Amino acid sequence: MRNEMMHRPVLKDEILDLVRNRQRQMEGELGELQQQAYEDNVPIIPNETATFLRFFLKQMKAKNVLEIGTAIGFSGSLMAEAIGEDGHVTTIDRFDVMIRKAKANFEKFGLSERVTLLEGDAKEVLPTLEGPYDFIFMDSAKSKYIEFLPECLRVLRVDGVLMIDDVFQAGTIMHDIKDIPRSQRTIYRKLNKLYDTVLEHPDLTVTVLPLGDGVLMISKDVENIVIEEQ
Ligand SMILES: C[S@@+](CC[C@H](N)C(=O)[O-])C[C@H]1O[C@@H](n2cnc3c(N)ncnc32)[C@H](O)[C@@H]1O
Repeated sequence: MRNEMMHRPVLKDEILDLVRNRQRQMEGELGELQQQAYEDNVPIIPNETATFLRFFLKQMKAKNVLEIGTAIGFSGSLMAEAIGEDGHVTTIDRFDVMIRKAKANFEKFGLSERVTLLEGDAKEVLPTLEGPYDFIFMDSAKSKYIEFLPECLRVLRVDGVLMIDDVFQAGTIMHDIKDIPRSQRTIYRKLNKLYDTVLEHPDLTVTVLPLGDGVLMISKDVENIVIEEQ
């Protein structure tokens, strides 16, 4: 018999309101940055993802964190605060306007010592990193996730977690490609390639969560993960 619950959107408007608006927003100056960014349509993570990120990092007691996609430094600051004074966040961005704003925010929040901002394209920066990282948050250009995956897995510790943001394409990721606007097809194909690669991989433990526009949580079970040539 058809299970009707399986064929309804996971998040109805009122549930979205609960997870996005009724869960506490961030406090203090970080909260002010969050609200300002939402008002100005700066693309930072939504509140339900921020809430989850903070909760999860504390539970897993992560200390060494990597982020790809700093923007104005909202999630970077949130993560630095969540992992505490003995933790460190390394974050990568290539856009000078964002880099300037992020630096000013890390300074303002007293986090400059606990956050290292690496300037440049993640394609060039990632191979220079050694890790190991307990947690990696990838929140950059979606079409590049599949390309950056092997490097992220190389520097992730065994049982560490790679969290990848925005993997639902506003809910269209499972639609037939002919229904996808041509301008979105490359992202659609690359994200589907990402799913194909990680969901069936024997050495990865993966879970997909309906937070924001979807997140993929990937944990590696062995040191060396082999990813087939893309
Ligand atoms: C969605 S924003 C990040 C938001 C941030 N994580 C937050 O929630 O506060 C994406 C950022 O990724 C950066 N980005 C995109 N592709 C990149 C790449 N290949 N290398 C470095 N940065 C990249 C963009 O410049 C942009 O600032």
